[in-house]
Amino acid sequence: MVAAGERHWWYQSTRTLLEMLIAPHLGRVDESTLFLDAGGGSGATGSWLADSALTVLDDFEPVALKAAIGEHAGYRAVRTDINRVPHRAESFDAVLCVTALCHRMNPNPQAIVDEFARVTKPGGLVCLMEPGGKRLWRGHDEVTHTARRFSLAEMRSMIRTAGLELVRATGAYSFLVPPAAVMGLVERGRDKSDVGRNETGLHGVLGQVARAERALIRKVSLPFGLSVIAIGRKPIAGPTS
Ligand SMILES: C[S@@+](CC[C@H](N)C(=O)[O-])C[C@H]1O[C@@H](n2cnc3c(N)ncnc32)[C@H](O)[C@@H]1O
Repeated sequence: MVAAGERHWWYQSTRTLLEMLIAPHLGRVDESTLFLDAGGGSGATGSWLADSALTVLDDFEPVALKAAIGEHAGYRAVRTDINRVPHRAESFDAVLCVTALCHRMNPNPQAIVDEFARVTKPGGLVCLMEPGGKRLWRGHDEVTHTARRFSLAEMRSMIRTAGLELVRATGAYSFLVPPAAVMGLVERGRDKSDVGRNETGLHGVLGQVARAERALIRKVSLPFGLSVIAIGRKPIAGPTS
């Protein structure tokens, strides 16, 4: 993932997609802004945050942390387990978590999202992106130690159960659902990752289709996708009477 992060078409598209979905909902970004990229790995999907403001990068994997801070000056690495988020309440303007809740290390994703809500400032955002399509299990899930894929309804529910207001929930990479279903059948029982293969995305074709899908997602939320995304906002407490 460290090697593929910069050049693989999926990571490039995902950075652009996340920025498109999240940035309009962020307040002013300045020197007081602090983001959290939780389970952020090498920063392959969250580095755009670190390039705009100071961003704490929580991850268990030292190789990934080292790569991220070497590439992006805005990252501050914290080697930690996100099952026990080590930060103070109301610390972050936004928390991003991409394909970490699905991991075998995380038996209770809701408890982790509750923690994300705790460390988010009132008015701040929590953005989750996870593998979608519960039946779309394939070799890539084995290699990446994935324990579960999520439905869009589950993503919405995690946001709301954590006490956040749902800003947006959408599927993404819907055009990859049919090929993923076929690959699931072909690769049954084998562990083969998508990360090292087809980096160019059929010589740019998949990147172009992803761009067209982003234009659609800008206007409407998709009911399914190979990825599912949910964004919540922490309510600002009203005056007590
Ligand atoms: C599939 S990678 C995704 C990395 C990054 N978010 C991205 O989109 O490129 C999952 C990352 O989550 C981290 N991770 C998963 N569970 C974790 C936990 N409980 N505590 C810390 N890191 C965790 C892994 O070490 C890995 O770097």
